[in-house]
Amino acid sequence: MKGIVFTEFLELVEDKFGLEMVDTIIEKSNLPSQGAYTAIGTYDFSEMLSLLKNLSENSGLSIDDLLLTYAEHFFGVLAESYPDLIKRYKDPLDMLSSIENHIHVEVQKIYPDAELPTFEVQEKTENKLVLIYKSSRAMYSFGLGLMRKTFEHFDTKANITYEKLSSDGTEVKFSIVKTNG
Ligand code: HEM
Repeated sequence: MKGIVFTEFLELVEDKFGLEMVDTIIEKSNLPSQGAYTAIGTYDFSEMLSLLKNLSENSGLSIDDLLLTYAEHFFGVLAESYPDLIKRYKDPLDMLSSIENHIHVEVQKIYPDAELPTFEVQEKTENKLVLIYKSSRAMYSFGLGLMRKTFEHFDTKANITYEKLSSDGTEVKFSIVKTNG
C-alpha cells in the first residue's frame, strides 16, 4: 500500500483524535516501519490493518466507519493531487464506471506497485450503475466513501447501497442510483 495512504491517514487521526492517539496506535501496532512513513514509499497492507484495528479499539468506532470517514478525506487529497484525472468527467456515473478502465489504469502507471481493487461494471444506464468490487483488502467501505464524495464533487445526489457477495467483504456489489438527474 502506498505511503500517501498512511501519511494522510495519520494526519486525519491527529486532526480528529489528537497526537496522543497517533502515538498510541503506532505503539500498539508493532509496525515493521515503526510508523515512519513517506508519501512515496510502499508499505505492507497489514500495517494499515493493525493501525485501523487499534484505532477502532481506542475510539470505539468500527473499522468500516473509520474507513468511510477516511475515504471522504482521501477524495479531497486525490482531487487536489490528480485534477486532470477527474476533470474529463462531467457526470459521476461516468467517472465511477471508468475507475477500472481509466482512473486506476493511470494510477498504476504513476505507481507501478499500487495495489488496486477491480470494479467491474455489471449494469449501466443513464441513472443507474451496478459495480462489482473485488479486492483481497476488503476496503469496500473506503470505496463507498469515495463514491459518496464523487457525487458531492459533481453536486449530484445518489442512493448507494451495497450487498456483500462474500462474507469477508472481498467481493461486494454496489448499486448506485441518481436521485436528482
Ligand atoms: C485505492 C488512486 C478514484 C476506489 C487507491 C490508491 C490510490 C488510488 C493511489 C492506493 C493504492 C495503494 O495504496 O497501493 C485513485 C485516484 C482516483 C481514485 C487518483 C481519482 C482521481 C477512486 C474512486 C473509487 C476508488 C472514485 C471509488 C469507488 C478505491 C479503493 C481503493 C483505492 C476501494 C482501496 C484499495 C482496495 O480496495 O484494494 N486509489 N483512486 N478510487 N481506490 Fe482509488
